[in-house]
This record gives sequence, C-alpha cells and structure tokens, in this order.
Amino acid sequence: MAIRNIRVMGDRVLTKVCRPVEQMTDKISTLIGDMFDTMYDACGVGLAAPQVGILKRIVVIDVGDGEAYCLINPEIVETSGSQTGDEGCLSVPGKAGKVTRPDHVVVRALDENMEPIEVTGEGLLARAICHECEHLDGILYVEHVEGELHDVSYDEEDAFDEIDELIEK
Ligand code: NI
Repeated sequence: MAIRNIRVMGDRVLTKVCRPVEQMTDKISTLIGDMFDTMYDACGVGLAAPQVGILKRIVVIDVGDGEAYCLINPEIVETSGSQTGDEGCLSVPGKAGKVTRPDHVVVRALDENMEPIEVTGEGLLARAICHECEHLDGILYVEHVEGELHDVSYDEEDAFDEIDELIEK
C-alpha cells in the first residue's frame, strides 16, 4: 500500500464524472488500500478516487466513529433533515466553508468484496457521504458554499477535528 498524490482544485480530473466499477481486480484492490492510506496520512475523513486521479466510483470514509467504509458505486437512496456547518476537502487545502447538507442519509453501495451494503449516516457521516459521492460526479463542495471560503489555520483545524465539524480538513 502506498500514499498517492492528492489532486487539488483546478485539476480537471476533479470535474469529471467517474465510471462504475464492474468487477474487483488486483489493481482496484490496491487502489482502495492506497486510498485509505492516503486519507489517514492527510488526516482526512473521506477520499474519493478522482482525488487521486482515478475516474472510478469508489470512496473511502472514516469519520472516527469506529467504522471505516469503502463504498463502490454508491447511490444515496434516502435523505432527510438538514445540517449547516463548516466543510473542507483535501483537494481544497487550507480552506473551509459553510455548507448545508442532509442530516440523515442512507447509501447503497458495494463493499470491497463487491457485496451489497447499506450504510445509514447521521451528522458528520451523512455530510461525508454526500461530499464524497459528489466527487464522483465532478462536484466540489465549494459549489455549495454559503458566503465565502475562509482560511483554516492548523490550530483551527485541530480544534475543528475535535468537535467533528470539519470534513477532510
Ligand atoms: Ni473532498
């Protein structure tokens, strides 16, 4: 497993619609492992394959609730409620902005064994699922920001992590 280079806003790969995964291969299995490594190395809570330059419908998420998710070909099938809070993205380093998201989502996907799974997310997990799934359609959270993006200092990032308000830094 290895840490991959994270693409940043302005890279056109982040604007593309990703292709579904048809079958698990050694290459995709390695990619998923690398995505987890890359996310943890960058202290993010989620990462989508296009952020490492691969146009496949794969996301990994770990919001620190004891579960790490790999979602392949994810489809959000239910949303409800609303939450407004600061959000960030590993592809938009040093920035955050206020985004309103559903507070509850249900997502259906395949896991890394290509077995169907359904994940219910509330709060930060719901926010992360929405954010990561949008990456697969070439959408960055900055398109939804209410007001201006603001700079996030490292100290503030640590503080945000503690109160679980920041996604992916
Ligand atoms: Ni992101």
